[in-house]
Amino acid sequence: GESPFTDSVFPDSGSAPTLKGRSVVTLDDIPLPRIEDLLDRAAYIDSHRREVAHTCDGRVLATLFYEPSTRTRLSFETAMLRLGGQVIGFAGAQLASVSKGESISDTLKTVSNYADIVAMRHPKEGAALVASRAASVPIINAGDGGHMHPTQTLTDLATIRARKGRLTHLTIGMCGDLTFGRTVHSLISTLCRWGHVDFVLISPDELRTPEYVLERIDASPTCTYRETSDLGGAIGDLDILYMTRVQKERFFNEDDYLRLRDTYILDEAKLRSAKSDMAILHPLPRVNEITTDVDKDPRAAYFEQVRNGMLVRMALESALLGDELPGYETKMEV
Ligand code: CP
Repeated sequence: GESPFTDSVFPDSGSAPTLKGRSVVTLDDIPLPRIEDLLDRAAYIDSHRREVAHTCDGRVLATLFYEPSTRTRLSFETAMLRLGGQVIGFAGAQLASVSKGESISDTLKTVSNYADIVAMRHPKEGAALVASRAASVPIINAGDGGHMHPTQTLTDLATIRARKGRLTHLTIGMCGDLTFGRTVHSLISTLCRWGHVDFVLISPDELRTPEYVLERIDASPTCTYRETSDLGGAIGDLDILYMTRVQKERFFNEDDYLRLRDTYILDEAKLRSAKSDMAILHPLPRVNEITTDVDKDPRAAYFEQVRNGMLVRMALESALLGDELPGYETKMEV
């Protein structure tokens, strides 16, 4: 990858080396057939829950969360428990020795003695890479500041594939905080590798997509983008609408946050101009950017997305540990 926060540990070649023992800081350096295989594994797990219940017997996952989370931490933990493993960890830096000044590296060297695999969320971009270099067990980036959130991207890909049957030949609207939205950055970067996506980037001027993400789209011969601040004008073109929250915790200034947070509110009235089979995604948590009356609309896919989040994390944890899912046969050429 071009990111300064990424170690390129997997060559993006036609071959697809096993994920066993690897860390996942980003999806950028995981070959596409491997990503598709992870999505296949997640679908298999969904229909074979009983068969896979002992896949990770005896394994220990550590969740190190230096930032708040509901879905990511609980789904990582549930995923390991449903595979037969166990979980340790902390949720909140104030309870860990970082509050006494311990470095990420020392924490990871320590936790590597306790756990077989680690999921870590941290407010600083690049923290997951630092962790992966210090640890002797696989690290999964559960979000590093405004940089990447690779397991959210797997979640989003699983949901898009389930709803549309494909990951290409789609018009995808990204709406809201496109500057700090790491889920948006991760998803765009990954979709550009398959290509054939037209992105509509919908944000206020102050929250436009960073240049390095636009360059990713430019670098794809088959992807395009246009930027607009007008959700109502764009919604009718979209196959997918990916809504995001304006993230209070990323703003330096309360006034800017208050001014921008209500820019886009998706409600049933706005959805009247949308295609009948458009899928609405949101990484959650939402504040007010989707009204609750939309939840019953068949186009709302965000709670389905939550469920897919647990399934893809089951697929990823077992793959990184090298624990085979009983009965699963890969379609990937190996
Ligand atoms: N989507 C997501 O990362 O949610 P949490 O912040 O609750 O983990």
